[in-house]
Amino acid sequence: MPIQRKTSAKKAIRKTHPASQTGGGARSSHSSPKNPSLILLEDPALRSRNTFATPQFHSAFSPGFLHPGSSISVSHFTLQDVSRILEEASELEAMPVFRRAQRFAKRRVALLFYESSTRTRTSFELAAKSLGADTVLVSALSSSIEKGESLKDTGITLRSLGAECIILRHPNSGAPYVLGRATGLPILNAGDGSHEHPSQALLDLRTILAHFPADNGTAARRKPSITDRTLDGITVTIVGDILHSRVARSNALLLPRLGARVLFCGPEMLLPGFAANIGPGVEIERSFERALRLSNVVIMLRIQKERLSGLQIDLEDYMEQYQLHMERLAAYAPTAMILHPGPMIRGLEITSEVADGPNSAVAEQVYHGSIIRMALLARALDASPKKNEQSSRHR
Ligand code: CP
Repeated sequence: MPIQRKTSAKKAIRKTHPASQTGGGARSSHSSPKNPSLILLEDPALRSRNTFATPQFHSAFSPGFLHPGSSISVSHFTLQDVSRILEEASELEAMPVFRRAQRFAKRRVALLFYESSTRTRTSFELAAKSLGADTVLVSALSSSIEKGESLKDTGITLRSLGAECIILRHPNSGAPYVLGRATGLPILNAGDGSHEHPSQALLDLRTILAHFPADNGTAARRKPSITDRTLDGITVTIVGDILHSRVARSNALLLPRLGARVLFCGPEMLLPGFAANIGPGVEIERSFERALRLSNVVIMLRIQKERLSGLQIDLEDYMEQYQLHMERLAAYAPTAMILHPGPMIRGLEITSEVADGPNSAVAEQVYHGSIIRMALLARALDASPKKNEQSSRHR
């Protein structure tokens, strides 16, 4: 199949106004001098976590001040934690609906979203509701955040209103640490800047395990025992805008610890050579065809226009080299499983034929997302102290 949109694609993505990196308008106020999110830029320990260039990325950081029910980085999880989360997910999946709804009846969960989201927001919200919790959504454009209220004050306000756990999406890498420190509540990172998206990596893992079970299929999913050999022999290629991708980072920090080989694939501009320093088990392969030949799983990424910071990409050239179309898939990886965190830009990084084709597990990913997010919420709320304890501790 020929490469699509070759003539109709915009020649380049250009970004001229720095405010548009965080969505412009009201959102740019999050990085105003008065905003505590600037702590991220002033704290070298946190700042170093914004780059792929730091080899000791996850070993030096102590999350001691965080609530133990938090999920901010996959590097905070032991393999035992990952096993427990997957087990909890399978137990909740199998539980009768009415019993599941009693599990956290009337507990309070806040969703705090500074960036748009379809999958993560909806699945966390539905997951919380299916566990019986009450949810409230605060989004940047319809709240006092628009008037300049800080992340810290917004978090403290939500805690005062009874929130026992906050799910945060934020354009600034490291924002969940700021919120965790300010509130003492369990924080579930729903994506922070170009840093991490831990629930996405866990749902990707569950999707991969469903297709490549460690031992005996369904039983392995029900009671998965995660070890450093669970994904032995599995090569996962992550393709595209690695530089700005929190999904790439979380997967690259998680999957090699289970034995997978991770290949980063993309042009220098979106995949600098130092990206392989993220950790062991991660390599760079610039040729998409060579990477596909080695792949059991291919994770396609969109180009994150909102984070390009002036980079100019020749889309025609990009599509020529890195678009996943049926001809390329059939020639080089006919049995590979295709994943995409979404949103997909059909006709750019992936064609509709592949996105809707037999190799695609994109819809399955969304399903596994709802199950994994129930488990992460259960972990957070189980670990959460009683409401009156937490409010006196952080007054
Ligand atoms: N995968 C993902 O984060 O999608 P949303 O931006 O729609 O939540």
